[in-house]
Parts: sequence; C-alpha cells; structure tokens
Amino acid sequence: MQDITKVGIFTSGGDAPGMNACIRAAVRTALYAGKAVTGIYHGYQGMIDGNFWEMNSRSVSNIIQLGGTILKTARCDAFRTKEGRQLAYDNLKAAGIDGLIAIGGDGTFTGAEVFSREHDIPVVCVPGTIDNDLYGSDFTLGYDTATNTVIEAIDKIRDTAASHDRLFFVEVMGRDSGCIALNAGIAGGAEAILLPEKNTAIEELCKMLEGAAKGNKSSTIVIVAEGEANGGAYHVAKEVKARFNFYDTKVTILGHLQRGGSPSSFDRVLASRLGFAAVRHLFAGANRVMVGLWGNEIRTTPLEEALGNKAFKLSEDMLEMMDVLSI
Ligand code: F6P
Repeated sequence: MQDITKVGIFTSGGDAPGMNACIRAAVRTALYAGKAVTGIYHGYQGMIDGNFWEMNSRSVSNIIQLGGTILKTARCDAFRTKEGRQLAYDNLKAAGIDGLIAIGGDGTFTGAEVFSREHDIPVVCVPGTIDNDLYGSDFTLGYDTATNTVIEAIDKIRDTAASHDRLFFVEVMGRDSGCIALNAGIAGGAEAILLPEKNTAIEELCKMLEGAAKGNKSSTIVIVAEGEANGGAYHVAKEVKARFNFYDTKVTILGHLQRGGSPSSFDRVLASRLGFAAVRHLFAGANRVMVGLWGNEIRTTPLEEALGNKAFKLSEDMLEMMDVLSI
C-alpha cells in the first residue's frame, strides 16, 4: 500500500476518443476513496508550468461521450531533460500531488518511466492512443472508435468510387502500426492494404490491381497505412497511374478526423475499466506499470516491458483471408 493523498491526472501525446471517459473514471474512483484529485493541463508541459485544476466529481460531469481530452494534451520536449523533470517534480510536490495517473501512448510511458525512477512520485499509466501499438493491452483507448471512423469513411468512398468506376487510395493513421489499416481494410472490403509491417512493392500491388480490373470490379479501394514503405498514398497512386493509365485514380488522406468523435461503447467501457483499475492499482502500491486488457481481464505490465515489446503482430492468416475475400 502507498499512502496517496492527492492524485494528479493527465493526458499526453495524441488525443484519443475515450480519454475523457477514462479521466472521469479515474477522478471518481479517487474521490470515492476519499482522496483529492488534481487535473494537470497539457500533459508534462502542464507539470512544468504548474497548470493545475483542483477537481471534484462535477468536474467530470457529461464528458463520457466527448472525444478529445478536457485536460488538453501536448508533446513536451522540455520533459525530456532532467531539469524539466525536476521543475515538474517541484511543482507537483508544491501542489501536494503524491501519485500520478498518465493516459497516453509510448511517449507518455517513456516520460513516466524516467520520471518515476528519478523521483518519489509513483505513476500508473493507461494506454490511450488510436494506434493500438502498446504491448500489454489487446486494445488501447480510441482504437475502436478510430477504426469505426475509418470504416464509415471507406463506405462513403465506396459509393462514389463505384459510381465512377474509380480506384481510390485511402491513407489512414497509425504511425508505424498497421492495426487500423488492416482491420478497417478488412471491415471495409478493401481490395489491397499496404502496411508498415509488410513490404509490398508497387509491382506486387499492380498485380493485385490487374486481377481486380480483370474481375470487372466497379470500384477498387487500396488502404495505405501511414508508415508503409512506398512513401504514402499520393506517391503510390502516382506510381500505379504510371503503369495503369486506364485507371481513374483518386487519393483521400483521412488525417486527424480519425482522432476525433464520440467514443464507441467499447472505448467508453474500456476507458472506465482502465481508469478505475489504474487508480485502484496506484492506491495498492503499484508504480511504473500500465494497466491493460488481456483477454477480458485487466492486468498490469511494467512500463519497461510495455515499451520493450512490439504490440501488433501481423497475422498471416488475416492477410491470406484478405486476399481470398477481395477477388
Ligand atoms: O499516435 C497517434 C497519431 O495520430 C498517429 O497515428 C500519427 O502518426 C500521429 O499521432 C500524428 O501526430 P500529430 O497529431 O502530432 O500530427
């Protein structure tokens, strides 16, 4: 057990749908246990600036359904320095914060790992990123919502693509993880998917597209994951057009709209479970761990292990299925 009196909660890195639901769960779990709660604005930057908000249970009313993060977020270079972290520690101590809940991705976890080794404030992390790229949790907050957003977009693109007999290249986010691309591609009936985890040469893609053309398809959709090796959707489209001039090609970059929107029921429940569990683990003495979903259970994983392992492993079965189903 550690005697935490005041919990600091923050979100950091790219926002993800479900972060607010998680803030709500963490705040209320801590208050229910009779502890004080401080919201820290703009992640690590807010610690350095002393940008704090004393929260009560009404501070998190009516936010479970909201995308984004009411605590704001940032990527903070100053926190990478020892001096920056010392300043953050001094501000946290002055505010009476003696335990932290961090919601974010691997950059957030890296900061938490270093900070909690240097200073006597324990940190428990919650995986919050649309990329679903954190080892130790089957799903990260926001991934399900983002994938559904992508599917909705693909469905709409399919309508116009089929009407014009067009070939669309749709670029999706994920940094260096192809998880959104693969699953949205399968769910959206894509004809091909280019992933960071698998090098698909343009010639290979062209062979697939030749097959689609011979099969008299009225529309063809290729999902291009951010981080794949050919250099992005515009480049791939140009290369394909140079080989198959008959194709009427178009490019859609979905971009940051994938990060917004009201969280799905899955993300709201996951966020509630993880926020609740994170605070309970913090009170029970946990430090430098992340809470995650394994099967249908919540487990903790040391941050070092979460950061040292690759989360998304490409399934050859899924790829084969994708090829079969797109004939
Ligand atoms: O990590 C989430 C993510 O949306 C990635 O998919 C993407 O590579 C990156 O963040 C974009 O970051 P920014 O919002 O800083 O442009």
